[in-house]
Amino acid sequence: MRVPRHEGAVNRSNTMWKGRFTQDTSSLVQQFGESISYDWRLYAHDIAGSVAHARAQHSAGLLTGEEFTAIESGLRGIEADIVSGSFEFKTSLEDIHMNIEAELTKRIGSAGAKLHTARSRNDQVATDTRLYCRAEIDGLLDCITGLQKALLSRAEVHAGTVIPGYTHLQRGQPVTVGHHFLAYVEMLERDKSRLSDARKRLNISPLGSGALAGSTINLDRSAIADELGFDGITHNSMDAIADRDHIAELLFGIALCGVHLSRLSEDLILWCTAEFAFAALSDAHTTGSSLMPQKKNPDVCELTRGKTGRLVGNLLNLLIALKGLPLTYNRDLQEDKPPLFDSVDTLRLILAVNTELVAAMEIHEGNCRRAAADPMLLATDLADDLVQHGVPFRHAHELVGKAVAEAIRTGTPLDQLDLARIDPAFGSRAKEVFSLERALASRTNLGSPSMANVRAEIARWQAILG
Ligand code: ARG
Repeated sequence: MRVPRHEGAVNRSNTMWKGRFTQDTSSLVQQFGESISYDWRLYAHDIAGSVAHARAQHSAGLLTGEEFTAIESGLRGIEADIVSGSFEFKTSLEDIHMNIEAELTKRIGSAGAKLHTARSRNDQVATDTRLYCRAEIDGLLDCITGLQKALLSRAEVHAGTVIPGYTHLQRGQPVTVGHHFLAYVEMLERDKSRLSDARKRLNISPLGSGALAGSTINLDRSAIADELGFDGITHNSMDAIADRDHIAELLFGIALCGVHLSRLSEDLILWCTAEFAFAALSDAHTTGSSLMPQKKNPDVCELTRGKTGRLVGNLLNLLIALKGLPLTYNRDLQEDKPPLFDSVDTLRLILAVNTELVAAMEIHEGNCRRAAADPMLLATDLADDLVQHGVPFRHAHELVGKAVAEAIRTGTPLDQLDLARIDPAFGSRAKEVFSLERALASRTNLGSPSMANVRAEIARWQAILG
C-alpha cells in the first residue's frame, strides 16, 4: 500500500474538543503530538472495532437500523479510500481514530456523531493495538516457519556433512552441518511458541473500558469481543487502559528471535571467511566492494546482526516509557507505536531475506571434511575410551591432556602418536577411536549428533512443519 497523503500541520482548532477551548492548537503542538503519520496503519483494526461498537450500540437501542447501516457503510467507504490511497489524513486530527471519526461524520452526518458514545480513544487504541499485534503475530509465525523449512531442507542435504563444533570459537567435538542447522530450527520453534503464548494473553477485548472508568451507558462487551474474534474481555477498566503488556511481550519475542538470527548470521559470516570456508553465499545475497574487486561481502548477515540492535532497542524504548507512568492513560503511551511497527517490519524482512539466503547458500563439503579431520576433535572420545576400560574420567582427562601436549610439542598429529608409550592404559585400540564415523555413530543419546539421530530429527521436524 502507498504511504497515505497527509495535510501538513496548520493552526486549527480540533473539532473533537472545540467546546472547552477558545484558542486554536499551535501548529508546532500539532506536529509534536500527531501520530497519524504512523498510526494510520491501524485503520483496518480501528474500523473493525468501530463497526462492532456500533452494532452493540444498535442492539442497545442507541442507534436505529438506518443509523447503524449508515455508519457501517460509511466506515467501509473510508476503508476503501484509505486502501486506494485517495483518503487525505489530517495532522490537525492527530490520530487514526479522530481522522476516521471526523470523516465519517462529514460523510454521513449526525449518525457519525453518535459513534463515540460509550467509548474513548483510550479503549479504542488499546483495542486497535491488540488487534494489530494479533494479526502481525499470525504473519510472523508463518514467516518463521518458512525460515525453519529452509534450514530443515539444508539440514537434510547435509545431515552427514561433518564439521567441528565449537566452544569459545575453538574446535571442540565433531558435529554435522545438519545438526548445526537443526539447532536454529529449535530456537525458532521456541520463538514461535513465545509469540503464540503472547497472542493467547493479548486476545481479550478492552472495549467498554472507556476513558478509564467504563461508561454509564452499558453495551454488550462480550458481543463486541466475539465479533472481533477476542477470547474474552478485560476485567478492570483502569488496567485495560494503562496496559501495554501485549506490546512489550511482542517486542521481547521479536527481539529474542532477532538475537537468534543474529547468532545464525555470525555463524554464517565466519563460515564464509577464507579462514573457515565452510560455506559461500550466493551472489544474489552478497555485495561487492567499490574498491577491492575480489570482495564478496555478507552484508545481509551483518545487517541482520546490526538491525537486531534496533529490535532490542525498541523493547527497551517501550519499557522505559512505561516504567514511570501512573495509572491510567498518559500521552507517553502514544510512543508505543513507532517501536512496535518498526520491530514488526524489521523482523518480517529479516525472516524473508534470511529464508532466501539459507536456501541459496552453498556448503563446501570438502573444506568441512578437512576441518573435521583434525584428530584433536576426538580427544574427548579418547578419554571416553579410557573410561570404558576402567580409568576414572579425571585421570583419563589428564592422560589425554599429556598426549595432546606431546602432539603439540612434537608437531605430530594426535592420532599418529605412540600413545601406549605415554601410558599403557591407552592400549593398542586407541587408534580405533580416531574414526570420525565411529565417533559420530556412537553419539546416540537423544539430542546428540549421530547420523541416525539427525535423520530422525529431520523426519520429526518434517512432520511438525509440514
Ligand atoms: N493517539 C493516541 C495514542 O496512540 C490515542 C489515545 C489518545 N487518548 C488521549 N486521551 N489523548 O495513544
